[in-house]
Amino acid sequence: MDNFTFHNPTRLHFGRGQIAALNTELPADARVLLLAGGGSIKQNGVYAQVKAALGTRPTVEFFGVEANPDFDTLMRAVEIARREKSDWILAVGGGSVLDGAKFVAAAVPYAGDPWEILTQRGAGIKAALPLGAVLTLPATGSEANSFSVISRRAQQEKLAFGHPLVFPRFSVLDPETTFSLPPRQVANGIGDAFCHVMEQYLTYPADAAVQDRFAESILRILIEVGPKTLAQPTDYTARADLVWAATWALNGAIGAGVPQDWATHMIGHELTALHGLDHARTLAIVLPSLLQVQRKAKREKLLQYAERVWDLRDGTEDARIDTAIKRTRQFYESIGIPTRLSDYNVSADTASAVARRLEARGMVQLGERGDITPAVVEAILRLAA
Ligand code: NZQ
Ligand code: ZN
Repeated sequence: MDNFTFHNPTRLHFGRGQIAALNTELPADARVLLLAGGGSIKQNGVYAQVKAALGTRPTVEFFGVEANPDFDTLMRAVEIARREKSDWILAVGGGSVLDGAKFVAAAVPYAGDPWEILTQRGAGIKAALPLGAVLTLPATGSEANSFSVISRRAQQEKLAFGHPLVFPRFSVLDPETTFSLPPRQVANGIGDAFCHVMEQYLTYPADAAVQDRFAESILRILIEVGPKTLAQPTDYTARADLVWAATWALNGAIGAGVPQDWATHMIGHELTALHGLDHARTLAIVLPSLLQVQRKAKREKLLQYAERVWDLRDGTEDARIDTAIKRTRQFYESIGIPTRLSDYNVSADTASAVARRLEARGMVQLGERGDITPAVVEAILRLAA
């Protein structure tokens, strides 16, 4: 494996009742900007717990961060934070709220036009307000990583940035806060976490036994626990495993020192920007077709995946690869996520539109070997029609 520095500074408070930890995590005199989504936290009791833990700290609330958080919405939160002299950001919600909080944390002290944070992928960040999170949706890993994905609907854009300064200082993961999730969001979370592992694992062998075995166990846990937690949403044990699995799927551990792909995500972000599809649904469309188109370059890892994740040991190598790809598609379908563009009424013409958009961004060498060119992107999406 390559040389690497693994640094993850986020403190995690896991389990029932852990929202109370906010009181020790936040300074007694913190001026808090509380960021939230459309209101689910008021219905499931999370908001009441957060308010109780915040006590008398001066707190401004900003509700309305939407799924696929929007730049223009977040800029209103930036103005409020500047005006109120907020010195802590507290995100309470799913990945969108957390990602939005990371952007706000970096944008408040940013000297130039904050849109640059996205167009330069975080390169210009020099400072950020400290932020903490209460996670209510297991999916993105945003609670323990330094990435954020922001949309700008006015320009049909969806761009990502990352910077060490936007790691949450702490995150609270209480599985009970996720019991109120609709099945569609639980499925999205399972599907997103699955793809995060695949992006870091299904590349080429890199002599990284720990990362490989760890990735394979997260995949197997998602396959086992996903259907269980969908069927029994208030079974604490199953939900707790999903929450912890989703965090480890993208907190840097399994990706340390190994080649990474991320083409599925880059293509998926364009599909969300163009067609408004849920993030995880775009991944379900792209991943099986990408594995098929890239099966030669990914051959060794596909065989390893077939054997260790799907227990496929019989038949020819090609037959095992075929079955492993088929199982991947069936897994998404089994948790209620369709895997074809046509299932979402999106025409195959989007293939060339997405390829052109990536090209315009200079993303012409995607994948772990840089061999996913715009022409390959187009082939992948045509196969996903
Ligand atoms: O807005 P509210 O009312 O809170 O409702 C939300 C939202 O409608 C609802 N929800 C969240 N927790 C709930 C709940 N409803 C009932 N009970 C609860 N406990 O769920 C809906 C979707 O929430 P959202 O935060 O959008 O979902 P998710 O966590 O899947 O986040 C998706 C976003 O994260 C980005 C995606 O691109 C997308 O924008 N990603 C971020 C990554 C990162 N930071 O590392 C990596 C990922 O690959 C991903 O790209
Ligand atoms: Zn994702």
